This record gives sequence, C-alpha cells and structure tokens, in this order.
Amino acid sequence: MTLSSERDGRAGDEPARSLLEAGALTPAWADVFRAVPRSLFLPDLLWSHDMATGRSVPVSRNGDPEGWERAAYANVPLVTQWDDGAHTGTNPGNVPTSSASMPSVVAAMLRDLEVSDGTRVLEIGTGTGWNAGLIARRLGGSNVVSVEIDPAVVEQARGALKRAGLSPEVVHGDGRDGWPDGAPYDRVIVTAGVRAVPKRWLEQTRPGGIILAPWGTHYSDQDALVRLTVGDDGHATGPFLRMVEFMKLRDQRLDWNRFRAHVPEFPGDADESSTQATMADLGDRYGSVRFVTGLCVPHCAHVVNRTGKDAGKAWFFDLLSRSWAAVEFRDGEPDATVHQCGTRRLWDEVERALTWWTEHGRPGVDRFGLTVAPDGSAHPWFEDPAKALPFGWRPRT
Ligand SMILES: C[S@@+](CC[C@H](N)C(=O)[O-])C[C@H]1O[C@@H](n2cnc3c(N)ncnc32)[C@H](O)[C@@H]1O
Repeated sequence: MTLSSERDGRAGDEPARSLLEAGALTPAWADVFRAVPRSLFLPDLLWSHDMATGRSVPVSRNGDPEGWERAAYANVPLVTQWDDGAHTGTNPGNVPTSSASMPSVVAAMLRDLEVSDGTRVLEIGTGTGWNAGLIARRLGGSNVVSVEIDPAVVEQARGALKRAGLSPEVVHGDGRDGWPDGAPYDRVIVTAGVRAVPKRWLEQTRPGGIILAPWGTHYSDQDALVRLTVGDDGHATGPFLRMVEFMKLRDQRLDWNRFRAHVPEFPGDADESSTQATMADLGDRYGSVRFVTGLCVPHCAHVVNRTGKDAGKAWFFDLLSRSWAAVEFRDGEPDATVHQCGTRRLWDEVERALTWWTEHGRPGVDRFGLTVAPDGSAHPWFEDPAKALPFGWRPRT
C-alpha cells in the first residue's frame, strides 16, 4: 500500500477537516494529515480507548472491518500493545504500553513544535510510526529520527513507514539516551509521559531549540505538556501548555509495590488528627488540582480508594523515606480522620499546597512552568521562571 491509497486518502479528509476547524491543525499540517492517514499504521487488532470511562474495547479488522475503519479515524487513542508485549489475546491486558495517540493531541503537539523547512527533529517513542511519518512527510525523512524501546514495535513501525513511502530513521534504543549520532536537533518531541527530563535531550538540542514533552510528578498519573527552550547555558525552560495523558516512558513508571513496606500495620504509631478538607478538594482525573499539588508536594505519590460519593480513603507515600499519611473521608461527616507517620508530614504538605492554590485563585497549569538544569534536575515555577514555588522543591534527576 502506498500513500496514494485512494480509500485511505478519502477517509482521512474528514478528520483533517474537523481538526483544522477545531484549531488543532494548522493548514500546513492539515495537508500532511490528509496525505498520511493513521489507518496505514494500525495493526489488524487494536483496542479503542474511551477516555471518559477508561475502558478499552477490542476491534478486529478481520471480524469487523467497518468498526475497525471507524476506530482508525475516530478522535480516540488506539492501544496497540499491552504489558510490554507480554500480553496476547483479544481481551485488554493490564497496562497499555504502546498506542496510536489521539489525533487531536498529535495535531496540537505538531502545531506547538513550530517546525519549518530544514528543521531537524528527534522523536522519542515511535509507537505505530504515524507521528514520525507525519513529520517526515513535512520535513523529509533525512531530518527525522525516532527512537523506540520495544523491538517488535520498531519492526511494525518500520514496515508501516516503508509501505507508506516514508523514510524517517527509526532507531531501536532507549529514548532516555536520545540519539547522539543524529544530533544536534532543533526539536525533540516526546510521545510518552516523563517524570524526569534526561540531560541527554538537552545536550543533543541546539541552543534555541525546543523540547516538547508530557511531564508530570509521581503524585498522580497526570501529565502536562511542557515546551522547553534550550538556552546557551545548557538550561532549558518554558511553560506548561495544557493537560495531556500519556503512557509513561518505560523506566519512569511508578512501581506501587515499593509502598507495601511503608505501612506494616495501620494505624500503628501514626499521629491522629482531623481535617475539614473533602475528597473533592483533592481533585479528579481531569482538572489541574492533582498536577499542581504534585508540583507543590515533591516526591510524593498518592492514591484514592473511593467507597462512596464523598467517602473513601486517600493514601500518600513519600518516595524518599517511609513516611506516609492516610485520610479517611466519610459521607455526611464534615471532619475526615488523618493519620500521619514518619519524618515527613505528608498530609500537612498537601493541605498547605491546596490552601496556597486556593488563595492564588486556583491557577491552571498554563501559569506554571519548568526549568531543567544541565544535570537534568527539574525546578517548577509559578508565572515567572525566577519565581520558584514556595515549597522547597528538592530536585532529583
Ligand atoms: C504513546 S506511544 C507513541 C505513539 C507514537 N508516537 C505514534 O505515533 O503512534 C509511546 C511509545 O513510547 C515507547 N517507549 C516507552 N519507553 C520508551 C523509552 N524509554 N524509549 C523509547 N521509547 C519508549 C513505547 O514502547 C510506545 O511505543
């Protein structure tokens, strides 16, 4: 199959038009979207992911060709691998580990990448190869390198790109190392969520170049897209643009088993107190509360086990010590019970962060930004790179 596949080209028109109208696509990228349809890069079996419910539904090209075609052009993420390839069969696996990202997210990231003729791009996370194919169509294959960690995914992407008549360099490797052989790059685009920006990406980007990456803390699964400009001094700094949701870079996923040892018995010798905060104050999957709390309470992971509308237990774990906190919210009761244990008072830190956020008018992520030092350490800021968050961030690479 080549790019001139008429059927795919026609079917690709409609998504390109609606993304253009929604402002996600620029006219130049709209032509590229029409020429490089997503369907060319998809396997016969995929899982259509519903962002609202979090459910993934299998769609087989052989069993349901029309459903497959609809999924291919829908504005939804399509999971193409589970559990780093260990999962087989039609039912969803445990962790989605490769996908074709949501077209509107792909389009908006390409817009924010601000490329022009001759721009050299490094992509981290080749996945299906669709994004690398789009960039290669716009800038020429010789200007695009894409790094993918999974060998089977690399082979599929290379095959799809070849069939599409596109020739970016697809490298099998760990994206943390970038790809020095192709450096320096004008742009680095990362299509997996990161918890730390590897210093090699800074080293391999030309001064004035841009690193666009979904970045977040371990406080939650949330990522915000950060657009860092690399300076002459090797630092990279820039604003968060908006919330996004990406599967994480392989070695930057949080291993929840590490917290088993934190709470040998509950409540043990933990201090008990109470709070008038509610479960709703902690935020949900969509707003920016969790993301901002993560900026203000470094090296902390949290999980909420909901048991009713306003009831449930929130757990907080320190990533650097065994400190933990638990808050039990009960339906219809104004006071929640707090237990805190260890040298760090995690709930006090969370409550302080929520108060600070409220007092500042509940700012969205686009009022925050990040500076990454040449050694990879990260420093979040509020409104101005010179205004560090007042929470004593202890940077860690
Ligand atoms: C959301 S998918 C990328 C979507 C892709 N750009 C596309 O157009 O289809 C994320 C990809 O990142 C890859 N990945 C995860 N960790 C990686 C790492 N350390 N280095 C390179 N690739 C990685 C995953 O295997 C997965 O294929």
